[in-house]
Amino acid sequence: MKIAFVGKGGSGKTTLSALFIRHLAAAGRPVLAVDADINQHLGPALGLTDAQAAALPSLGAHLPVIKEYLRGDNPLIRSAEEMIKTTPPGPGSRLLRIVEENPVYAACARPVALDEGSVRLMATGAFTEEDLGVACYHSKVGAVELLLNHLVDGPDEYLVTDMTAGSDSFASGLFTRFDLTLLVAEPTRKGVSVYRQYKEYAQDFDVHLRVVGNKVQGPDDLDFLRREVGEDLYACFGQSGWVRRLERGDEPPLRELEPPNREVLARLQTAADTAHGLRDPHRYSAQAARFHLRNAESWGNAKVGTDLAGQVDPDYVLGAERAGTAGV
Ligand SMILES: Nc1ncnc2c1ncn2[C@@H]1O[C@H](COP(=O)(O)OP(=O)(O)O)[C@@H](O)[C@H]1O
Ligand SMILES: [Mg+2]
Repeated sequence: MKIAFVGKGGSGKTTLSALFIRHLAAAGRPVLAVDADINQHLGPALGLTDAQAAALPSLGAHLPVIKEYLRGDNPLIRSAEEMIKTTPPGPGSRLLRIVEENPVYAACARPVALDEGSVRLMATGAFTEEDLGVACYHSKVGAVELLLNHLVDGPDEYLVTDMTAGSDSFASGLFTRFDLTLLVAEPTRKGVSVYRQYKEYAQDFDVHLRVVGNKVQGPDDLDFLRREVGEDLYACFGQSGWVRRLERGDEPPLRELEPPNREVLARLQTAADTAHGLRDPHRYSAQAARFHLRNAESWGNAKVGTDLAGQVDPDYVLGAERAGTAGV
């Protein structure tokens, strides 16, 4: 399952991503956690010290290693330099699995021990002022897009990404690479307006979008979200004393999280599992190709100096090469 948490800054993306990751790890599920937000806070939210979080390798800085590995001996991609963020896998490409050792994880991922279980964490790296609004910004999230396009995940394995909902995320195809996108919304006008914008943008791409209310304090908050979001509202996480304790520097164990909020985490897992069952690998790969062609035309061909449309194998379907699932 590939899951993204998106939403307005401050809505609680990092908090809910981290809690969901902890919930999955406590249930014994393999998890690859990815911090792709402009504000890199997922590491500390998973219990890393600031120094440990600062020492995380950045995906953005390891793009050459990532590209060289993923390219494998795919004859359609002649060199790592010809690989852009949207270059799709094809025959000969190396794919990533959630549970394995590979040079990409060795370079970019770090294990994080939790109070129950442990996960692997990758981070795009901090966004600097000059990254924003220019092509480089996208090379950081671009690394995540490449990884997702090459990641084959099984039904009980999870990739969880903490991401921004800013319009920048729509400049690439990244927002279409998830089985489930959870938009975190506070019960405020601003919270739901971000949802509307996201929905409007995502609807042409079959993005499976669900809203998770956060910091919901009572029936008025709930009514507001129900009214504004309608059937896309999937669950509501309450204002949490447990989260407050965390913020005060305590390290409360997951099992002490308020039972209704734990229940929300369990429901999110159900939503993710359901979404995985609905995944259409053909559509997934076709969309990857479509974004690649679009990026190739708008900037990639000019940058690389060759026609990158030739990198697409129209018959290639990610996941179809796994034993027993060919043609799924
Ligand atoms: N359910 C909650 N109950 C109490 N505080 C919360 C809750 N969710 C988030 N917060 C607090 O709100 C602030 C913003 O949350 P954060 O997860 O950092 O948002 P984002 O990642 O969307 O910017 C943090 O101080 C966090 O501790
Ligand atoms: Mg955050």
